[in-house]
Amino acid sequence: MLRSHSSSDLTTSSIGQSVTLAGWVHRRRDHGGLIFIDLRDREGLVQVVFDPRRSESVHRLAGTLRNEFVIQVSGEISRRPKGSENPSLPTGEIELVATSCRILNPAKSPPFYINEESDVDENLRLKYRYLDLRRQRMKDNIILRHRVVKCLREFLDARGFIEIETPILIKSTPEGARDFLVPSRLQPGKFYALPQSPQQLKQLLMVAGFEKYYQVARCFRDEDQRADRQLEFTQLDIEMSFVDEADVLQLMEDMFISVVEKVKPSMKLLKPFPRLSYDDVMERYGTDKPDLRFGLELRSLTDIVAGSDFGVFKGAIKSGGIVKGLCVPGCGAYTRKQLDELIDLARAFGARGLVALALVEEADGVAVDKASSAAAKFLATEEVRKMADRLGAKAGDLLLIVADRAGVVNKVLDQMRREMGRRLGLIDQNTLAVAFVVDFPLFEWSEEEKRWQASHHPFTAPRDEDIPMLDTEPAKVRAKCYDIVCNGYELSSGSIRIHNRDIQEKVFRLLGYDAERVRRLFGHMLEAFEYGAPPHGGIAPGIDRMVMILAGEESIREVIAFPKNQAGCDLTFDAPSEVSDEQLRELHLMRRDED
Ligand code: AMO
Repeated sequence: MLRSHSSSDLTTSSIGQSVTLAGWVHRRRDHGGLIFIDLRDREGLVQVVFDPRRSESVHRLAGTLRNEFVIQVSGEISRRPKGSENPSLPTGEIELVATSCRILNPAKSPPFYINEESDVDENLRLKYRYLDLRRQRMKDNIILRHRVVKCLREFLDARGFIEIETPILIKSTPEGARDFLVPSRLQPGKFYALPQSPQQLKQLLMVAGFEKYYQVARCFRDEDQRADRQLEFTQLDIEMSFVDEADVLQLMEDMFISVVEKVKPSMKLLKPFPRLSYDDVMERYGTDKPDLRFGLELRSLTDIVAGSDFGVFKGAIKSGGIVKGLCVPGCGAYTRKQLDELIDLARAFGARGLVALALVEEADGVAVDKASSAAAKFLATEEVRKMADRLGAKAGDLLLIVADRAGVVNKVLDQMRREMGRRLGLIDQNTLAVAFVVDFPLFEWSEEEKRWQASHHPFTAPRDEDIPMLDTEPAKVRAKCYDIVCNGYELSSGSIRIHNRDIQEKVFRLLGYDAERVRRLFGHMLEAFEYGAPPHGGIAPGIDRMVMILAGEESIREVIAFPKNQAGCDLTFDAPSEVSDEQLRELHLMRRDED
């Protein structure tokens, strides 16, 4: 080794020892006579002092050092002079008095500061990711990720799970997102697909008798990028045989508690995890991934305003829509400008409008402050009081109400609730509010495609008691499916699977696949179900999202060593990039100029 110690090995008990350290120049301070270097390695910082009285040549060399130079330095550990200790550093009481120094590699001045957490354009950070990863915040995130994954592996290993790798080159099957395709050189005109998840493979491993499988699995989906979505991401993929929903959920609860207690014991994890029905969360939060760290719950107001003279409410209800609202406590004094901003925000989330009613006290109860809303004059006193009652509102509060199709109302109020939670400081960043969402419908109707789609995926089992409704009322069939949500994010989805050929074929039919397509795309699964497939189920927590939340970050890009940017590009490598005609020819592909 080019070093005898790393920074974390050094304590006050090292005083008097001769050591050799290696690392990067984090910061250099020239105090006339003495030169100080903060030497950085992966574990931390150590102050190195260059004193011309010890060695003039070494001191001269220190004068040429610049930030990010890689150096090797030897000397003796000594106690820092009284008054110059740095209590914020683990090595703050000691320093290395240098007797020799070697530049292992000089460095150009980096395009951004490594030694400060200043705001840097993300694309610049991604282009020089190897420098960005030197910064404390990113280093902490990547190390946290390592520790989380290690804990997950240890937990599952202790519970009898075995890790099995599955192929990255596999078959393109419609599973929700768009596939990444890989042309085959050996089979002209044919393509592999990268797995969107190892879903079918893990089910086949259950048929194979492995009973408890997991994998830290890379998944690929050609989707639009978002803060919590990447083209490639990592799941903790899990599958178990002979289990029902409660077994999977209990395992997950134990696993999350174990990981948080090990890697983030300072965070407040609310226990036990509540199990909430899909209908319930949609009603109370307008989303299937609610942030449960704060209240501001939504309430339906449709029945109260069913006979209203107010055109917005009347119109929405008449065309099959709903009216819903939430109460923002203490915001009844919002100015006209603040209210207009809220209305604009609701529009940006997709609403046609937002009814904002500030409540004031009148002799016989609450009423709307007429200045807050033009709607006030159309609303009967009784309607206002009933709405305030339902929303638990009092004078001084602000009601935010949306009337539209249910999908729009829920989407907008979910976002308004999150926004108001943030503004009012109701969100404790140190709390983890995890919940299981259960009782999802098996199918969702796609207005765009005019057909049923699997709410989770086509391998999800219907509830036993709902199976007869597959033939009569598919919309009402509930799934043996569950999500884990945490702090407003979907952390994980999973389900008990179909393990019976007839039911699987029926579900494929309902999803609009004809028999030939089913045979071509899923024949291997159906056949496997005929060779003694055990009842089985599983789940797949997204590791990127889990680490993002534990790290207190708002984007999974901050916890991935080399992520793609918003446009799906890797800026360090400049990928995707063009390839030569020769490579295309080998793959039997031809470039076509788009017209
Ligand atoms: P699902 O598609 O819901 O289920 O994915 C499970 C979890 O993976 C994470 N995730 C993502 N993370 C980052 N970027 C993405 N593009 C992305 N897409 C999904 C989320 C999500 O909750 N095979 C099933 C699981 C099963 O049924 O066992 C599946 O993949 O955290």
